[in-house]
Amino acid sequence: MSPTRDILCIGAGYIGGPTMAMIAYKCPLCTVTVVDIDPARIAQWNSDDLPIYEPGLEEIVKSVRGKNLFFSTDIEAGIKQSDIIFVSVNTPTKTFGAGAGMAADLQYWDKTAMQIRRCAESDKIIVEKSTLPVKTAQAMKQILTSGENGVHFDVLSNPEFLAEGSAIRDLENPDRVLIGSTQTPHGLKARDVLVEIYSTWVSKERIITSNIWSSELSKLVTNAFLAQRISSINAISAFCEKADADICEVAHAVGMDSRVGNKFLNASVGFGGSCFKKDILNLVYLCRYYELKEVADYWEAVIKINDYQKERFILKMLHVMFNTLVTKKICLFGFAFKADTGDTRESPAILIAKRLVEERAKVVITDPKALQNAMKDLASIDGEISYVEDPYEASAGSSAIAVITEWKLYTGLDFERIYRSMDKPAFIFDGRNILDHKKLFDIGFNVFPIGKPGLTHF
Ligand code: UDX
Repeated sequence: MSPTRDILCIGAGYIGGPTMAMIAYKCPLCTVTVVDIDPARIAQWNSDDLPIYEPGLEEIVKSVRGKNLFFSTDIEAGIKQSDIIFVSVNTPTKTFGAGAGMAADLQYWDKTAMQIRRCAESDKIIVEKSTLPVKTAQAMKQILTSGENGVHFDVLSNPEFLAEGSAIRDLENPDRVLIGSTQTPHGLKARDVLVEIYSTWVSKERIITSNIWSSELSKLVTNAFLAQRISSINAISAFCEKADADICEVAHAVGMDSRVGNKFLNASVGFGGSCFKKDILNLVYLCRYYELKEVADYWEAVIKINDYQKERFILKMLHVMFNTLVTKKICLFGFAFKADTGDTRESPAILIAKRLVEERAKVVITDPKALQNAMKDLASIDGEISYVEDPYEASAGSSAIAVITEWKLYTGLDFERIYRSMDKPAFIFDGRNILDHKKLFDIGFNVFPIGKPGLTHF
């Protein structure tokens, strides 16, 4: 049975949009409004061409938009009408002042809190959806209660764990929903309101509650643990290349231990995406703030290994291609930070393309969804870079192919045709270990996977 609530979400981004669409879809008696300061973004949410692509999202939005899901720029009216406000504004890494390059930039968060305080005329539950430094809820509460309008605010933490490309699946079937609250009678009552909403479609045992600081911290720590697994396997991939071991065999054997588990153990050219690096830097910054130097250094190493893995990939290319890449055409297969998305934020491809240009190679980039973003990411780079959607055309005449994104389409290509069109000797650097290396070697390629011995004809 759907609860009846007036819900507002401030921030129509990657988290706010899909999460609110799911709540509106599952709770038909709730009215859900998503607001944003960017009118163009709101117009897109109201159009046939949604601002983000996620499998299944369009169907859900279209089935509830205009019924109990609304997108608007009228933030003030939204605040006045609602009894629950999700805050899902972006909290990027700070680029200026104290903590630049590490701490979270909370300016949008702070402005939102002030605006809620200014406009609210009745009691509200405020839900933190954005990923935030621990103790932000306290700051939020202080801002909200500094007015004299007699309005009562309860602040909850309800971090979102969805991943790009599987957002709708993750929202519909979450591993867990986490709700943190203060342990006061008021706080617990507010928590129960949110529990009631989620329990419309999520089973009770998957809805977990905690104190508010644990909830805020759990989001950062989950991302830190996931990234740490990737850095761990990537660190071992370097070892495998020296010891003639095979990282896939090692990962398989290690992952079969049920205490370790087999997920997130795919060695790669490095992790990317908008969350992992940002959240770890934030965690490291907080550790330093609390003078936990050893803890900060430990987590910072996860990022260092990720940077090392990208650099190692480039140096391997340089080294095996006879220590010079000058005027050699190198084709990057994929630019997105992972498959099935056009998102290139923190993609290893950005650094790799820049470094190849520094080595004076001619870089050709192909990707089925991310070419527009790639052009923006590399706009300031002075060098020979071209963008070609068709992988056959992109790789023709090149000396090397480097697989950066694990797009499925790359596994089904006609590599004999590609080999014929390339300069010789032809190299393939498989930064995702998705290709059939033995077959490529038999065709004539010199093949360099991640964490496995290279297969060369010299
Ligand atoms: C991540 C978290 O998974 C999600 O819970 C959180 O809410 C946001 O951050 P996302 O950034 O969408 O989600 O991508 P994810 O699928 O986690 O992949 C992150 C990066 O790690 C990608 O670059 C991916 O290619 C890489 N990766 C992942 C590996 O290199 N090896 C792996 O085994 C898994």
